[in-house]
Amino acid sequence: MQRVADLIERVAPSDANVLVLGESGTGKDAVARILHDRSARRAAAFVKIDCAALPEDLLESELFGYEKGAFTGATDSKPGRFEAAHGGTLVLDEIASLSQSSQAKLLRVIEERNFERLGGKQSIRIDVRIIALANISMKEAVRARAFRDDLYYRLAVVTIEMPRLLERMEDVADLVEEFRLQFAARHNRPMVRFSDEAMGLLKSYDFPGNVRELRNIIESAVLAATGDVIGAQQLPDYLRSAARLMQSRNYKPSLAEIEAVYIREVLEHTRGNKTRAAEILGISRKNLYEKMNRYKIALTKE
Ligand SMILES: Nc1ncnc2c1ncn2[C@@H]1O[C@H](COP(=O)(O)OP(=O)(O)OP(=O)(O)O)[C@@H](O)[C@H]1O
Ligand SMILES: [Mg+2]
Repeated sequence: MQRVADLIERVAPSDANVLVLGESGTGKDAVARILHDRSARRAAAFVKIDCAALPEDLLESELFGYEKGAFTGATDSKPGRFEAAHGGTLVLDEIASLSQSSQAKLLRVIEERNFERLGGKQSIRIDVRIIALANISMKEAVRARAFRDDLYYRLAVVTIEMPRLLERMEDVADLVEEFRLQFAARHNRPMVRFSDEAMGLLKSYDFPGNVRELRNIIESAVLAATGDVIGAQQLPDYLRSAARLMQSRNYKPSLAEIEAVYIREVLEHTRGNKTRAAEILGISRKNLYEKMNRYKIALTKE
């Protein structure tokens, strides 16, 4: 993590486009914000768009804007996010889900530094630093040619790879400390501390949902605390079974326990996307719902 932090420090003030890669919950959004805040563009706009959230047409009209009459329903002209980000930073989240057509348009904007609104003739010059965010499968997408490599090289002038929380468990204590203070203040709660046993449990968990999952766990614990010490018993059961599964040689879990823990992990990995989770698990969505009910698996969300 120190290597990543140094890289962020060095890259932030430059104007280079940056590609931030990492699993869900590792802090990609947080890094994009830091890069902007520590750049000469900090006083200008910080604009974000999620490329996976919109179908191709809508995404392109959001990015590039449109002129009146460009398509049915375009009753007025509207500037897009590129224009909104002029002089500042544009964050393109989930970049790997861009269609081929949108990839081609984006490449052109980066290369020529100008573009037209949809249905427009006037060429608009823009000065925007692009920070693209993607899952680690991005490299796979480039290899498989689902993502064009010329665009990839334009975006990944610098690449920052966020480690999984499991690869930097030495940071867990500091993160717990940070979130404990943050949530006590935000929810106006008395200051709690975590017992040694509770810390031990946290440190033996593998956090498939990375920093976000740790953050959610600490927030729930702070909210549910009755005394001033949070013990292991106050942490979610699934932590205990997961830690037990990983750690203890004497403890022999049932198949159901293993299944419950694994389903939870996969759901964290897909960020609660049940269709993808069912695919990975090799079961139907209906079957997944049944198992979630049986094991009382609720989805943790931000
Ligand atoms: N180093 C850190 N210190 C404190 N909080 C962090 C850190 N890294 C991440 N977080 C917090 O963890 C949560 C998840 O981070 P973020 O949204 O940046 O993840 P992400 O990689 O963008 O995930 P996703 O791919 O799911 O969008 C956020 O609430 C963020 O504030
Ligand atoms: Mg994100």
